[in-house]
Amino acid sequence: MNIFDMKNLCYGGDYNPEQWINYPEIWDEDMRLMKLAHVNCVSLGIFSWASVEREEGVYDFSWLDKIIDKLWKNGVYIILATPSGARPAWLSQKYPEVLRLNSRGLRNYHGRRHNHCASSPKYRERVAAIDRALSERYGKHPAVVAWHISNEYSGRCFCPLCAENFRGWLKERYGTLDELNNAWWSAFWSHTYTDWTQIEPPMFDGETSMQGLNLDWKRFCSDLTIDFFNAEVAAVREFSDLPVTTNFLTDGLNFGKFSKYVDFVSWDNYPRWHNDYENLCETAALSAFYHDMFRSFKAKPHLMLESTPSNTNWQEVCKLKEPGLNALAGVQAIAHGSEGVMYFQWRKSRGSYEKFHGAVVDHEGSENTRVFREVAELGGELSELRNVKGSYTKAEVAVIYDLENGWAVNDMKGLKNEHKGYLKDCLSHYRALQKLGANIDVIDADASFDGYKLVVAPMLYMVSSARAARIREYIGGGGVFAATYLLSYVNETDLCHLGGFPGGLKDVFGIWNEEIDALYKTQTFSAFGRDYEIRDYMEAVHVQDAEVLGEYKTSFMAGMPALTVNRFGAGKAYYIAARAEDEFLSEFYSRLVSDCKITRNAVNMSDGVYAVRRGENIFVMNFSEKDGFARISGEDIKLPPYGYKILTSASDI
Ligand code: GLA
Ligand code: ZN
Repeated sequence: MNIFDMKNLCYGGDYNPEQWINYPEIWDEDMRLMKLAHVNCVSLGIFSWASVEREEGVYDFSWLDKIIDKLWKNGVYIILATPSGARPAWLSQKYPEVLRLNSRGLRNYHGRRHNHCASSPKYRERVAAIDRALSERYGKHPAVVAWHISNEYSGRCFCPLCAENFRGWLKERYGTLDELNNAWWSAFWSHTYTDWTQIEPPMFDGETSMQGLNLDWKRFCSDLTIDFFNAEVAAVREFSDLPVTTNFLTDGLNFGKFSKYVDFVSWDNYPRWHNDYENLCETAALSAFYHDMFRSFKAKPHLMLESTPSNTNWQEVCKLKEPGLNALAGVQAIAHGSEGVMYFQWRKSRGSYEKFHGAVVDHEGSENTRVFREVAELGGELSELRNVKGSYTKAEVAVIYDLENGWAVNDMKGLKNEHKGYLKDCLSHYRALQKLGANIDVIDADASFDGYKLVVAPMLYMVSSARAARIREYIGGGGVFAATYLLSYVNETDLCHLGGFPGGLKDVFGIWNEEIDALYKTQTFSAFGRDYEIRDYMEAVHVQDAEVLGEYKTSFMAGMPALTVNRFGAGKAYYIAARAEDEFLSEFYSRLVSDCKITRNAVNMSDGVYAVRRGENIFVMNFSEKDGFARISGEDIKLPPYGYKILTSASDI
C-alpha cells in the first residue's frame, strides 16, 4: 500500500503524540476524534528524534510501535517522517560541529530547529542511522504509505566545511578561476581571485557585493540541501520503497529543481486570511498561485501537507479563519491539484512555542468546538470526492515564475531597491487570467513550454542563451508569448547582455529597450482606445519590426511605445514595457484569451468568484463576504459568501 493507492483524498495532518506520552487517555481520545473528523492520514514523527533516541545508537521504539498500531487499527494511514528537522540536545552537545555557523561566522547554540550544517559528516551519519532504523522497523508496515523526509528544509550554514564544499561546487561549474572571475565580473572593485581558497561565502561583513557570487551561493545551498535530502532518501530506501516527499516552503531553495527528486511534491500553505491590506480573493489568489506552481513542477497532483484549521501563531496578526473559510480553502487546494487537505497540527500543544497555534483539537479537548465541527464537516465532504483523486488537468496558459530569477531581481541594485515586486507582478498577471476563468500553470523558466497556447513572462530578467533559444523556438513554432519590461537583461551569472535588451531576443520581439525609469509618480499610457495608469517602472522601447498597440502619454517618454506585438515565425511576441494597472491586464488578457481560444471554465463571475477545472470537475469558489455568481455552460450559479460548488458530471457543467 502506498499513498497513490489510497482510495480517498488524504485528510488529517501533523500528529505529534510524543507530546502526550504521559497522558495515556489522550491517545485513545485522539483515535475517537479522528474518526469523527474523517481523518484517514497523519504525518507522524516529524519532531520525535529525542523521544526515540535518547542516547546515541540506543533506540526506543516502544511508543511509536504502539501509536502506529493504534492508528492502523483505526484506519488511519501514516506519512512517516524522518526527524532531521530538529535534533536532540545530546547530539548538539556531543558533536557541536552539527550546529550551523551564521553569516557572521559564529556557531549557533543548540535550539529551535533546522539549525544544522548540511555538510557535517557527523550530522549526516546520525541522521542516516535513525532514518535507516525507522525504515527497517516501519518501512513495510501496512499503515505507512509515504515518507515525509525532514521538515521544511531551509536556511544556510556558513561554516568552513560548507565554504569548502562551495568552492568544490564552483570548480565543477566553472573549471578555471579565470572563468569564474569573468562570470562574476570580479575585476570591478579589484575583486579578482587568484586562488580558489580566497573565495568565501557571502559573509555578513564580507563579500556581499558581487551578485554572481550571491546567486551561486544560493544555488549551491539549494543543491547542498537536495544532496542532504537524497542522502536521507538513500538511507530510507535500504528498507522501503514507499514514495518520498518533503514539505516545501515557497522560496529560499530552488524548489523546481528539488521537485525532480521527490516522488510527489508537497508544501505548507499559510495565507494571511482576512487581512486589512487586500481583498480575500487576492489572498486566495496567492494560495492558488502556489498550488499551481507546486502542481506544475511535476505536472502531477501534489499535496498540501500543512495548513491551519484556524489561526497561526506567528503571523503579525494571528487572525482566525472565519466560519466557512476553512472548507473553502480546503476545497481550493483540491481544485488546484492537491491530493488532500492536511493540517498543522492535530491537537494543540499544551506548552512551548506553538501552544496557541490553531489545531483541529483544542485545549478544551472535545469535538464541541467550532473549529472541530468545521473540520469534521469538510472531512465528510472530501471523503465523497473520490473521482477527483489522481486527476490532473494541464492548463493551456502558463505564467513563468522562476525562483532563481526572483533571487537575481531582488539582489540587483537599482530600480525600486526595496520593493522590486517580482512575485506581486507575476500575481497581477495570474489574477487577470484567473478572473477570465482560465486554468493556469505556474512554471519555472526552464520548464517545457510544450502544449501551452499562451506563456506569460513578467519581469524575466535572467535569460541565458539556452533560455532565449527555447523562447525563440516556442514563439517561432506558433506560441503566443507575453513578456514585460525587464526581459532578458542578464545571463545566468548575472552579467548584462551586451548589444541591447532584451538580450538574445530583440528580433523575436521586434524591439530594443534603451533605458528603464523607476517612478515616484504614476504615469499614463493609452491602448485599446483608453488610458491606463503605470506604476513603478517604464521602459524607453524602440520599435524595429513590431507593431505598436499602445503608447505613453506622459513623462519624457510620451509618444514612445508602451505595448507592442511582433509576429515571429508562426507565433506572436507581446511586450508590455511598463508596469500597468490591473484594468489594463484584464483587457489585454481578455483579448489574448479569446485570440488564443483558451478555455474559460466560467464567465460573468462576480468579484471574488473564480472557477478551476480538475479532471471531470469544475470547482467554482466564492472568496468574498458577499453572495457570488458565475455562469458555467449557460447555467447561472449562485454562491453564498465563502460558498463553493463542485460540478461533477458532464451534465452538471
Ligand atoms: C511550519 C512547520 C510546522 C509548524 C507550522 C506552524 O509549517 O513545518 O512544524 O511549525 O509551520 O505554522
Ligand atoms: Zn556548515
